[in-house]
Amino acid sequence: MAKTRLAVLFGGKSGEHEISCISATSVIKAVDKEKYDIITIGITKKGEWLLYEGPIENIENDTWEAKAKADLAADPEHFGITILGCGGKGLKDICDFVFPVLHGPNGEDGTVQGVLKLLDIPFAASGVLGCALTMDKIAAKDVFKSAGIKQVPYVALNSTEIGPEIEKKINDTLVYPLFIKPANMGSSVGISKVHDPSGLEAALKEAAKYDIRIVVEQGVNARELETAVMGNLEPVAGAVGEVLTEADFYDYEAKYHSSASRTVVPADLPKELSDEIRAEAIKAYLACNCSGFARVDFLVDKDSQEIYLNEINSIPGFTKISMFPMLFMATGLTYTEIVERIIELGYERYNAENQK
Ligand SMILES: Nc1ncnc2c1ncn2[C@@H]1O[C@H](COP(=O)(O)OP(=O)(O)O)[C@@H](O)[C@H]1O
Ligand SMILES: [Mg+2]
Repeated sequence: MAKTRLAVLFGGKSGEHEISCISATSVIKAVDKEKYDIITIGITKKGEWLLYEGPIENIENDTWEAKAKADLAADPEHFGITILGCGGKGLKDICDFVFPVLHGPNGEDGTVQGVLKLLDIPFAASGVLGCALTMDKIAAKDVFKSAGIKQVPYVALNSTEIGPEIEKKINDTLVYPLFIKPANMGSSVGISKVHDPSGLEAALKEAAKYDIRIVVEQGVNARELETAVMGNLEPVAGAVGEVLTEADFYDYEAKYHSSASRTVVPADLPKELSDEIRAEAIKAYLACNCSGFARVDFLVDKDSQEIYLNEINSIPGFTKISMFPMLFMATGLTYTEIVERIIELGYERYNAENQK
């Protein structure tokens, strides 16, 4: 049987470029080479798509760009992505399936997924709607609300509304500390924790640097618990894990540069609580029309044990020591089996959408 040509998309124009390169390397190393021919396509921090055919070590340490071979250009005339300098071949001519191992804006927000859908190429993880909904914290909250999923009280606004009126609404509705977030970012970029009204305006302006849509949330003194979900219309949840950080909150520094954060899998939790988290995660996953896989993050109030859904990450970190794979490895699957299942689910969704 001919091998499946599996294109792995990595890098990207987001703050999570480097983590994507490491995740992609893990995926590439894990897939069954008897079954798949791997095609590696890197996206630079400027957003250029480059076909890369060098050693994978250069992807892991993000030095691949200097050795990349050919540009891929969006070609409006033929409505496709063409490899420049390769005789006019399109992306669809060189691969059968795409695994976008991309995080953040222009990666897990529905944009790349829209391109792949237009090109009629099956791909891993959620489609346009699932990615777009879970990327935008305000849209996601609206969906969680209509699905009856518990979340912290919040106020959503546009950056043009920043001023005394919205500050009054926030101060009247929410109890400090507050978390001020750009709606579309990731990696905690642009997020501030504010302890009293004097810091509110500056925090709103900081968030507005990254997005015109801003969300203000009531802070919880919380444990950060996460679960992993895989599947399409009948998804299953993995174990529940915990992120422990000594920082004031899990900010960019704590996520990527500090040794003061660690993960515990499985989390030390009563079974009822972990079952509730897993059930809520599946409900939220389906409500947002996710498919393939996702990581679902919760805040659990340390005093009341109340569970609040925080966010869904439609393409979470995927290195061998990342939370997503670890949560399924804790249920007995191997990393390679997880990757294989995600590819299968991508094909299943593509076939269902195309009635094949
Ligand atoms: N409402 C909240 N209460 C307590 N901590 C919060 C709240 N919202 C966010 N945090 C803290 O900020 C971190 C980043 O927020 P999050 O919404 O997950 O943003 P990102 O999408 O950038 O990961 C969380 O991991 C948590 O530590
Ligand atoms: Mg988060």
